[in-house]
Amino acid sequence: MDAEVPRKIIVDCDPGHDDAVALLLASTHPGLDILAVTTVAGNSTIANVTRNALGLAELLDITAPVAAGATRPLVANSEDDGFHGETGLSGVTLPATSAASPALDPRHAVDLIIELVMSHAPGEITLVPTGPFTNIALAVRREPRIARRVREVVLMGGAADVGNMTATAEFNVWFDPEAAEIVFSAGWPVRMVGLDVTMQALATPAVIERARAIGTARGRLLTEMLDAASPGYLKDGFPGPALHDVVAVAAVVAPELVEFEQAPIRVELTGTHTRGMTVVDRRRWIPRAVPTQYARALDVDGFWNLLLDAAARP
Ligand code: RIB
Ligand code: CA
Repeated sequence: MDAEVPRKIIVDCDPGHDDAVALLLASTHPGLDILAVTTVAGNSTIANVTRNALGLAELLDITAPVAAGATRPLVANSEDDGFHGETGLSGVTLPATSAASPALDPRHAVDLIIELVMSHAPGEITLVPTGPFTNIALAVRREPRIARRVREVVLMGGAADVGNMTATAEFNVWFDPEAAEIVFSAGWPVRMVGLDVTMQALATPAVIERARAIGTARGRLLTEMLDAASPGYLKDGFPGPALHDVVAVAAVVAPELVEFEQAPIRVELTGTHTRGMTVVDRRRWIPRAVPTQYARALDVDGFWNLLLDAAARP
């Protein structure tokens, strides 16, 4: 990571507890410069995730524009499963809207993404989608030139192994498989941060106690987010919440923490039991000169140190 020049990123998200922690890391780490936060329907309705994004922008002092995007997937009729609660961010106290609160940018998320990419030099902007990829797919369809100007797409989604929404499909891809297929086949560099590594980023009680001991404002905020994200995972028998989206941000700012392997990645669109599956071709004998990579290992201790050190910053 080139420490002196912060990486310019656009976070396209559906906050969502882990999206919220991803924004905390992205807004705190000096190696990242958030150019925009765009929202997409996924964990909750576009109204909820956008209200949550605006509240998080205020909490985290994110001054970049917040713009709302797609209200539903391209083709699917997916609905969120309420995993993140009624509001999409249950258990996290957001500031009451006031005159000082950030206003929603009037541009559509897709237009803002295109405008920023086209107005910056090629290779300057990294897209970090942490919700369904509807906005990203619409953007590259509306302005195909962004595929040659974006530095890379580092997305949370998919899995080379098992899914979470179904036996084979991960939520962000499952919610809008057609959008995911467009994103994986657009020709730009894609690093897929899937469940194979994000399910290793479980905020166990020991991790949460480390966050609780930090004592800074962001430490308290991180602790609140982790406590709020816990019930659903504990009910399913996990020791704590998986910080899926945070691993994607970590892969941008600390690439040494995540091991990737180049492989063709396609999305199953018609399988009765496999729709939304990311098919990662790991056959050793096929050519691997493709722009797509999937994450296959995570330095878990290094990941927690990255996040907790960021939250400890004054
Ligand atoms: O499967 C995990 C993904 O789905 C994360 O982005 C989480 O926020 C949910 O959107
Ligand atoms: Ca998300």
